Amino acid sequence: MDNKKFYITTPIYYPSDKLHIGHTYSTVAADAMARYKRARGFETFFLTGTDEHGQKIEDKAKDAGVTPKEYVDNIVAGIKDLWKLMNISNDKFIRTTDEYHEKAVQKIFQKMYDKGDIYKGSYEGLYCKPCESFWTETQAVDGKCPDCGRPVIKASEEAYFFKLSNYADRLLKYYEDHPGFIEPVSRQNEMVNNFIKPGLQDLCISRSSFKWGIQVPVNPEHVIYVWLDALTNYITALGYGSDDEALYEKFWPADVHLIGKDIIRFHTIYWPAFLMSLELPLPEKVYGHGWVLLEGGKMSKSKGNVVDPVILAERYGVDALRYYLLREIAFGSDGVFSNENLINRINSDLANDLGNLVSRTVSMVEKYFGGSIPEEREAGEFDADLKALAAETKEKAEANLDSLNFSVALTEIWKFISRTNKYIDETAPWALAKDEANKARLAEVMYNLCESIRIISVFVAPFMPDTAVEIRKQLGLEECNDWDECGIFGKQVSYTVNKGAIIFPRIDLEKELAELEEAQKPAEPANPLKEEIEGVAKIGIDDFAKVDLRVARIVDCVPVKKAKKLLQLTLDDGTGTPRTVASGIAKYYQPDELIGKSIILVSNLKPAVLCGVESCGMILAADAPEDDVKVIFVDGVPAGSKVR
Ligand code: MSP
Repeated sequence: MDNKKFYITTPIYYPSDKLHIGHTYSTVAADAMARYKRARGFETFFLTGTDEHGQKIEDKAKDAGVTPKEYVDNIVAGIKDLWKLMNISNDKFIRTTDEYHEKAVQKIFQKMYDKGDIYKGSYEGLYCKPCESFWTETQAVDGKCPDCGRPVIKASEEAYFFKLSNYADRLLKYYEDHPGFIEPVSRQNEMVNNFIKPGLQDLCISRSSFKWGIQVPVNPEHVIYVWLDALTNYITALGYGSDDEALYEKFWPADVHLIGKDIIRFHTIYWPAFLMSLELPLPEKVYGHGWVLLEGGKMSKSKGNVVDPVILAERYGVDALRYYLLREIAFGSDGVFSNENLINRINSDLANDLGNLVSRTVSMVEKYFGGSIPEEREAGEFDADLKALAAETKEKAEANLDSLNFSVALTEIWKFISRTNKYIDETAPWALAKDEANKARLAEVMYNLCESIRIISVFVAPFMPDTAVEIRKQLGLEECNDWDECGIFGKQVSYTVNKGAIIFPRIDLEKELAELEEAQKPAEPANPLKEEIEGVAKIGIDDFAKVDLRVARIVDCVPVKKAKKLLQLTLDDGTGTPRTVASGIAKYYQPDELIGKSIILVSNLKPAVLCGVESCGMILAADAPEDDVKVIFVDGVPAGSKVR
């Protein structure tokens, strides 16, 4: 992190559901880091984006009745809006459906293939037919599909494999030679002991059971495994594999990939091995932060307990939320989110400590000096201590930010805020103001307070960019993005303040908690059936009258030789002339079960030839749960009766 360029990434998010506060966490942390590095003069590139391929998205799009691209376009627009709301200063937003990315991924695959690191094999696993998904022994639950609960069968499909097993030793050596590559260090031990030492298996990097992905260049029947597609975003976003690799040349290797701890294996085993295969440098650091949990455990949409960052940002402001996330949870560890903690933090740290300091100071400068601090000033007791702490805080904040200890950096900054508040109590400006003889001392106290607040505005800017601007406005200063402006007193010669609104109003905890809980109640669950039925185009009674429905009796039934799905039914429709109907119900009924039964026939359907059988009509059946079909029987009603 020392050659004046800085490249930081967040994970690229799945555009499958709305993002919750846990997702916001990585991005806010990366943003604070990017802003801090920019302020320190680093040429910074901050990347985020979306990971848009894969079966899950394909399935969701199908359920929604739209194409996968239409499906993701809609959600990605929402994700971009969320980052705008959260004041995220990313330099680029990559979508894995971007054409340049898709092309580069194919080149990457080809390069690894040409090198001999990719071979064709067969993928064996437990297959769930209705879900078209492969599962491993450990993923399957009691021999059943973890998604739908139906039985899985052993199956195999042709697939391409990456020779991950060849890289185990090189990975171990790399970890050893590069302490700090994986952080926190406990996560490295987990990778080594749980994954690499027990033996790395080759990695299946293609799928042929679904289509929504980037085509394997050497075989269009296959799509590239989503994680190979997704991980490479970190280099394709810089133009790797395109005609213009200037950004890649400038910024790669990344200084840090910020990710959640659940995806550390992909980033510290697969990704480095892919890069080794491509003979490219590895990122400097992969940092796996902890989880934002709720009191009851993990957030999950099915439990209905996801926390929506938009509701919180709208109620308390984006900066309060950004501050809370980075202050409350030690970055490498899990932490619990609660509305109460959030409001308490806002009241104590933001309204009391920071907000009061600013408003008291500005009010005093107005009251005692009409807004402008006189130039004649006199140093005194407590000044040196305050100044020393500013310099010390700068060093501590830097050390902690450089090692991504956001919460500790903020704790240090808040010690300085408290120290400044204490300086007001120690110097007691209200007492000084009583005697004209103390005017110069009072001016110095006010000046020191303004200098402290100016310094604080620089300290908090990476975390709370809008607040920093607002504080400076009240001090009569322009926006500042130079970290070196903090730490040293005396940079600003004089002050003319402008009193503004309270930056963080106090919140009534009890009242707010009740309102907030109400606002966070999950919306009534959507009723897909209701939506489906309401979505069907309406017909008039005339349209219905065009369909001639009759009761008919099945007098014979045989399978259709050429078609596994069809049964050939011979019906008595009351006319005395037998009628033949082919029906796609062979999977659900044996012929013997049907003979003698009465059913409902669409008698005026135009005849059609189905697998060699001329079918004159259609029988009515219902789609039943669990992929079943039930024919509608009307036994006891004479053949030929009209159904209305
Ligand atoms: N698409 C992959 C990442 C590919 S990166 C090449 C993915 N996406 S995700 O949308 O499921 O998750 C994105 C990030 O959000 C992950 O780092 C994940 O750890 C993080 N979080 C999701 N829920 C979280 C919390 N509750 N708390 C903190 N972070 C969590 O994984």
